Amino acid sequence: MLKDLDKIIKEIDLNKEAPVVEPDRQYYYIAKAKKYVSAQAEKLGRQLTFCVTTFGCQMNARDSEKLVGILEQIGYVEETDEEKADFIIYNTCTVRENANMRVYGRLGQLKRVKKENPHMMIGLCGCMMQEPEVVEKLKKSYRFVDLIFGTHNIYKFAELIVTRFESERMVIDIWKDTDKIVEDLPSERKFTFKSGVNIMFGCNNFCSYCIVPYVRGRERSRNPKDIIREIERLVADGVVEIMLLGQNVNSYGKNLETPMTFAQLLQEVEKIEGLQRIRFMTSHPKDLSDELIEVMKNSKKICKHLHLPVQSGSSRILQKMNRHYTKEQYLELVRKIKEAIPDISLTTDIIVGFPGETEEDFLETMDIVKQVRYDSAFTFIYSKRTGTPAAAMEEQIEEDVVKNRFDRLLKEVQEISAKVCSVHTGTTQEVLVESLNDHDASLVTGRLSNNILVHFPGTSELIGKIVDVKLEECKGFYYIGKMVE
Ligand code: SAH
Ligand code: SF4
Ligand code: F3S
Repeated sequence: MLKDLDKIIKEIDLNKEAPVVEPDRQYYYIAKAKKYVSAQAEKLGRQLTFCVTTFGCQMNARDSEKLVGILEQIGYVEETDEEKADFIIYNTCTVRENANMRVYGRLGQLKRVKKENPHMMIGLCGCMMQEPEVVEKLKKSYRFVDLIFGTHNIYKFAELIVTRFESERMVIDIWKDTDKIVEDLPSERKFTFKSGVNIMFGCNNFCSYCIVPYVRGRERSRNPKDIIREIERLVADGVVEIMLLGQNVNSYGKNLETPMTFAQLLQEVEKIEGLQRIRFMTSHPKDLSDELIEVMKNSKKICKHLHLPVQSGSSRILQKMNRHYTKEQYLELVRKIKEAIPDISLTTDIIVGFPGETEEDFLETMDIVKQVRYDSAFTFIYSKRTGTPAAAMEEQIEEDVVKNRFDRLLKEVQEISAKVCSVHTGTTQEVLVESLNDHDASLVTGRLSNNILVHFPGTSELIGKIVDVKLEECKGFYYIGKMVE
């Protein structure tokens, strides 16, 4: 991607002031950072290395690809053994408390590593950094961290690295919010054949348990032209499958100068020649339109999979969650979707133990799971997030009650999903081959349109290709198959 970037960067005159407009300003800082990195590399007699660890969702995974793109552009090379890397970056998540605990735990270990290796740099970014208490704690108890930035200024990574090289102190740059979207920065894909594509940033829904709107800011949609151009470039570079990313893709386009619906955007993306599969995440049930169902039904490229988080089956709890739909409305939506696209796979997210959840409320959740019969469901124990309305609600549920409900739900979800998953046994389906099998190198692993994994005999040459595979045996959540010539 951005093939001319090397040339642009080589020609930048660092004796001049940094430009004010983006992305030119960042190109300038990439050139400048490159000088610092190569000077250090010369001193050490080897290349400098980095290791980026990503916590959280697809959005963060995509952001990490942007970080890696910049790091490689300025001359760092990847090192998978974190303790050996010259620059360690944690792209953090704060959606549940345990995500935060993992980061603090690993930081504790890094302190020791950095003592032995003082020139090592540690950078922290992502959603956790948008919480003022976190930054205070880091300033007080984790002084060895070099660079802290947030979700809104990630595009400034090169500039921040330069600031760190030029000062001996901890560099902190956190913005409360932004309305800016910077295009045309480098990014390095994890997979050659598939890629996430941001279509919007932020969230305006303020579900009462959720911290995302506070750490990702207000909803803003990318211009359709920029999205299409990015996908065209990706396709020219070998990508066959894309995942359109947003916290609520169904409200895409509302704040554009010329408003456009998500369904309309999908139709534009569908036209891109060479692109074979389109996925998207996440759909909020309250905004899922009939237009979208129609477009999915008629599309040749949109995958037969819909992630439709329900969160709870109790209308009373859904209201307290600020989800703007009832159990009945959700079930009606599912009915419409299944009627239009019978072989669609539905997956969901469920929270157990929201404040005030009674046994009756929980049984409503069990009931909706039984009615919808999800292909799979991510189940979460409610986690209290400071600053959200739910954190201040009375009747927080006791731990042992929640754990008991969680176990019952998980068992139900797994039993159903094993049954739902096995219905495709004996059919032949298109599979995008993603990798060699982790445990058996004579097998490859690929994904069906409905997102289910299948393992079958094959070689690495198949990676990135779409092939026909007969699904011979279902093993609960995945298949064993055989390629059909
Ligand atoms: N925007 C997406 C979800 C992003 S967060 C959507 O609306 O569907 C992913 C999932 O984390 C959510 O669907 C929810 O189930 C879960 N989650 C969010 N906040 C949580 C909290 N405080 N405790 C437990 N789970 C939570
Ligand atoms: Fe959180 Fe709700 Fe926004 Fe999803 S839609 S990110 S759950 S506030
Ligand atoms: Fe976590 Fe931020 Fe995603 S809080 S779930 S990484 S948007």
